[in-house]
Amino acid sequence: MRVLGIETSCDETGLAVYDSDQGLLAHVLHSQVDMHQHYGGVVPELASRDHVRRVIPLVKSVLTDSKLTGKDIDGIAYTAGPGLIGALLVGVAVGRSLAYGWGVPAVAIHHMEAHLLAPMLEDNPPQFPFVALLVSGGHTQLVEVRQPGDYRLLGESVDDAAGEAFDKTAKLLGLGYPGGPALAKLAEQGNPARFRFPRPMTDRPGLDFSFSGLKTCALNTVKTEDNDQQTRADIARAFVDAVVDTLIIKCRRALEETGLRTLVVAGGVSANRQLRERLTEVGSQMGALVYFPRPEFCTDNGAMIAYAGYVRLKAGQREPLSFAARARWPMTELQRLGTRD
Ligand code: KG4
Ligand code: ZN
Repeated sequence: MRVLGIETSCDETGLAVYDSDQGLLAHVLHSQVDMHQHYGGVVPELASRDHVRRVIPLVKSVLTDSKLTGKDIDGIAYTAGPGLIGALLVGVAVGRSLAYGWGVPAVAIHHMEAHLLAPMLEDNPPQFPFVALLVSGGHTQLVEVRQPGDYRLLGESVDDAAGEAFDKTAKLLGLGYPGGPALAKLAEQGNPARFRFPRPMTDRPGLDFSFSGLKTCALNTVKTEDNDQQTRADIARAFVDAVVDTLIIKCRRALEETGLRTLVVAGGVSANRQLRERLTEVGSQMGALVYFPRPEFCTDNGAMIAYAGYVRLKAGQREPLSFAARARWPMTELQRLGTRD
């Protein structure tokens, strides 16, 4: 089965073709970062308009790269939520229409489910069940994944997502948008002993997170210290260490509470080198296997949508001719899938 995946939930237009026998055939991505940078964040209306401009040319180029035509596609998967409603509607409308035109089934994909399935695209994929840490710009969640479609939410952020906290802290350190990767880079030159930020919500039981206070810590430190490059690097270091430690404490706790020994880490922040290294260490201490997607599939992409689409189409899921996008969509509302091959 060959599935075309379409991702337009935020500021990346991502297209891919996944083949159930050969794996990923091709994927292409257009990032809108340059356009939004000017405004210091994503401007939803500009995002939607840019997806409109990019999506059809990208469908053509991913088919060319795969050496296929529309006739070779057996199903279409598009991100239907959560995300920016106008941006989502572009991918949903194009995906549903192409499926109608080509006479193939369509399937609506939950963006966070696609993130957590992204490590399945790698050569050594994780086995179910596992604990997933989802850390993106919009979400921070710990999920018990029994099988695709069967999810139990263990904990989530009560305020900012981890990626959002990275971006906001980066902005107040003058690092532009999206600042997460730049902040992580700056932190590498920082002195870990100079400032210490709290590890929020780790002193009480439970698996929820709170990251908005860390941004305030960074802001207060910026206000009281000299604004030299080393100080900014030291603040970045204190911030990254606090986020990474907090995520590690909660992952450890989630593995202990569920008794599971497989951890999957996905979403944009899972590209973070410090987080990957430290979680891999924790995994070996706990006798747990830790899986990450390759860095380019940590952030938004079409490949994870095509793969999630394949999983759901294989299980028999089909969309009606109507279509809908959902800005908010709890993952626990997803349809459970059979284990049919
Ligand atoms: O998954 P994603 O591409 O989009 C959403 O679904 O939100 O995640 C984007 C987020 C941004 O907040 C970005 O700053 C963050 O992931 N991010 C990183 C790194 N790369 C991306 N945060 C920390 N370190 C990184 N290397
Ligand atoms: Zn994402």
